[in-house]
Amino acid sequence: MSEHTMRAVTIDGFGGPEVLTAGRVARPEPLPTEVLVRVHAAGINPVDWKTRAGQGMAGLQTLPLILGWDVSGVVEEVGFGVTTLAPGDEVYAMPWFPRPAGGYAEFVTAPSRHFARKPASLGHAEAAALPLAALTAWQALVDTAGVQAGQRVLVHAAAGGVGHLAVQFAKHLGAEVVATASAPRHAWLKELGADEMIDYTRQRFEDVTGGIDVVIDLVGSQDDTAARSVSVTRPGGLVVSIPGGVPERLSLLAGPAGVRTSPFLVEPDSPALATIAGLVDAGAVRVEVERTFALEQAAEAHRLGEGNRTRGKLVLTVTG
Ligand SMILES: NC(=O)c1ccc[n+]([C@@H]2O[C@H](COP(=O)([O-])OP(=O)(O)OC[C@H]3O[C@@H](n4cnc5c(N)ncnc54)[C@H](OP(=O)(O)O)[C@@H]3O)[C@@H](O)[C@H]2O)c1
Repeated sequence: MSEHTMRAVTIDGFGGPEVLTAGRVARPEPLPTEVLVRVHAAGINPVDWKTRAGQGMAGLQTLPLILGWDVSGVVEEVGFGVTTLAPGDEVYAMPWFPRPAGGYAEFVTAPSRHFARKPASLGHAEAAALPLAALTAWQALVDTAGVQAGQRVLVHAAAGGVGHLAVQFAKHLGAEVVATASAPRHAWLKELGADEMIDYTRQRFEDVTGGIDVVIDLVGSQDDTAARSVSVTRPGGLVVSIPGGVPERLSLLAGPAGVRTSPFLVEPDSPALATIAGLVDAGAVRVEVERTFALEQAAEAHRLGEGNRTRGKLVLTVTG
């Protein structure tokens, strides 16, 4: 096949999983300070299917669009001025977010400093599962909440992509971790470091826990989870609203209770990715990949993800 084209999954319009179409498109070229990376695996995130459906980051994209923000691969070419990476380096990243990154493809280009060296102990599929979810968990816990040892951290949706990493990072920071997930996930999440498990399908979390310093809310308005979190949070504590901003009902209840709230949007952050790679290589953090799919099976992967029951992450394997 021509060196000027590459395999990719594109969308020509917003809609259901069937709009994801495999084909060939022009291969990108790196500008000065950018690298061209051969993508071995591309991680899938809820923002991918939300954007595909015309929500999420859809308003910031133009069609036709190649979805996908998480990549792990090998540097193929470096643009003028790049001195910290060279062809052959194994890297991982969440480049460009929330601008389009085009991860569901054989090649991406992005500023070299959006990338970090991939964890040496992981294959590309596991490394591609990390960037967006791990940066979300890390930035929310460390930068937004400033979690300290001894604090109580509640992670809602602990079994998902962000949640299972948030549990491990919170534990690494010395926090006591309370986690919500369905019962079949409890033993696994305890192994990852959760101290108290709550089966959200059988118990109302506010009936069984309290004294929380930081809530990492990955559920939002569904089942009124965000607003109900106020009653378990101590005055001065913080609820970080990860999906879709701070719900109005949370704001209404938090103020009078002296509970702080924060919206959140993940940002590209290669220093944090380097720190996370170090934690993974030291064995302090594990990433769970429930299933990998070939690039051309992106629609099937979206259907599974949208079921909202993924344990850890879903990943597309692209090359190799
Ligand atoms: N603002 C940002 O920058 C940002 C960044 C990343 C993610 N997000 C958003 O954060 C949310 C989570 O992302 P993710 O990647 O972790 O999603 P995910 O991996 O698709 O989450 C799936 C998990 O959610 C759990 N779950 C579903 N409903 C639940 C509930 N009511 N209570 C507790 N757990 C529940 C399921 O657990 P069970 O199987 O045990 O039921 C499943 O393991 C998404 O809405 C995503 O768009 C936002």
